[in-house]
Amino acid sequence: MKMPVHGQIRKGTLKMKFNLNTQSPHEAATPCLVIGIIEDAALNGAAAQVDDASGGEISRLIERGDIDDSRGSKTMLHGLKGVTAERILVMGFGAADKLDESRFERTCMDAGKYLRDHPVTEAHLCLADIELSDRDHAWRMRQEALAVHRANYLYSATKKHHEHTPHPLKSVSFTDAEGAAGAIEQARGLAVGFLRARELGNLPPNLCTPEYLAGQATEIAGRFDSVDVEILGPREMADLGMNALLAVGQGSANPPRLIVLSYKGAAGDKAPVVLVGKGITFDTGGISLKPGANMDQMKFDMCGAAGVIGAFEACAELGLEINLVMIVAAAENMPGGKAYRPGDVLTSMSGQTIEVLNTDAEGRLVLCDALTYSQRFNASAVIDVATLTGACVVALGHHASGLMSKHDDLAEELLAAGQQSHDRAWRLPIWEDYQSQLKTPFADMKNVGGMPAGAITAGCFLSRFAKELRWAHLDIAGSAWKWGETEGATGRPVGLLTQFLINQA
Ligand code: BES
Ligand code: MN
Ligand code: ZN
Repeated sequence: MKMPVHGQIRKGTLKMKFNLNTQSPHEAATPCLVIGIIEDAALNGAAAQVDDASGGEISRLIERGDIDDSRGSKTMLHGLKGVTAERILVMGFGAADKLDESRFERTCMDAGKYLRDHPVTEAHLCLADIELSDRDHAWRMRQEALAVHRANYLYSATKKHHEHTPHPLKSVSFTDAEGAAGAIEQARGLAVGFLRARELGNLPPNLCTPEYLAGQATEIAGRFDSVDVEILGPREMADLGMNALLAVGQGSANPPRLIVLSYKGAAGDKAPVVLVGKGITFDTGGISLKPGANMDQMKFDMCGAAGVIGAFEACAELGLEINLVMIVAAAENMPGGKAYRPGDVLTSMSGQTIEVLNTDAEGRLVLCDALTYSQRFNASAVIDVATLTGACVVALGHHASGLMSKHDDLAEELLAAGQQSHDRAWRLPIWEDYQSQLKTPFADMKNVGGMPAGAITAGCFLSRFAKELRWAHLDIAGSAWKWGETEGATGRPVGLLTQFLINQA
């Protein structure tokens, strides 16, 4: 297949190195040492060491009120006696009893943004010394590294005059400690995956087409001997009977693709995990056209695809000892003379027929054929990821992804991976009782279930194509990007998925 040429796209430029350093914090030769303090609490870890080395200067400055210890406060100190670092950034973590994972990560992010906007390109980070109940030092170090990496990301792919931050961080170091090497290695793999997912999510829909996504997968396959790629176009899909996926794409000048990446990290006979991503590169709603306001946001309707591509790449980067298959169902949902319409009845690859009552419920149509296709891999688990329903955002908002599965053990593993990576999901039921909402006289099912429990009836629809599978569904409509904010794609659920894969290895 011919690769597309997109001269306009500048490649993601965030290349941040993570290093370990055996010097104690006050002796680290760095342009900037970053330490954390807790409100009205004794100094500990790096902050205590720096305080001792400087003859109690940090304590004195806190006492005098020159260093603020409230949450999110930042104080830059220069040329502190007894300390090798040129500067010391003191981050306030606020009150101990309010400190949780979210506040910890937000404060690390704040430090990363502050450094991004200041004239340092290297820093030594000691924020993992801030204690957090039930999270060990290695966990705190991994999340600290990821948060600082995330904070230094700026979208620039399609800007001629992009804001060159004065001095973006190029390399950060951490104090070597128990578990540190593993934590930093995981952070490196995760950072690559998150960056990929965010960058793909943020790209505009005229450039990030199904063909472009296929090109990205092909590029990843080229980087690893352990990775193979297969791209199916409309002709191959027609031969397989993928009429639901084809119907969604048929109104667009950008033809659909089924993108398959496979990674071999374990014995050939070990059952793979399969990740399936919804890759609607733009969702106009089709003939059931969406309202104009905020329709641009539907460029993010391929964030399921971006998430599984990112998690796949993280897995390959980390060389996990598992087998993994990734399937992206990529299409553009457009109205037009060739578009599918409400009332159409489609015969899916599974043979089950679907009456289309709303062309805007297109995600489940591309996913159902991808799920049927996934049967051939005899997977240990199949997990699909999709910006599937507005109803999921109504139910769970922007903090939790929606998880649906009939397999309690798989659901528990995914919820646990979400907790471990602090990229959390919350389970919704997909009881048989809801299935009746999909009944129609004219086909085996319809593609919408009405107003009640819209996220769940979408999950129920998918479950009909996963009967042979150990399957779970993640609805990331609320978590994949920051709605109405400038930050764009979050890269979620790369953290949850990669953690799940790490746990399988
Ligand atoms: N991509 C949308 C879901 C979506 C909407 C995600 C808004 C994030 C923000 C999906 O294809 C869609 O349009 N779903 C419909 C389904 C309905 C027609 C049954 C929805 O949620 O309104
Ligand atoms: Mn839609
Ligand atoms: Zn959609």
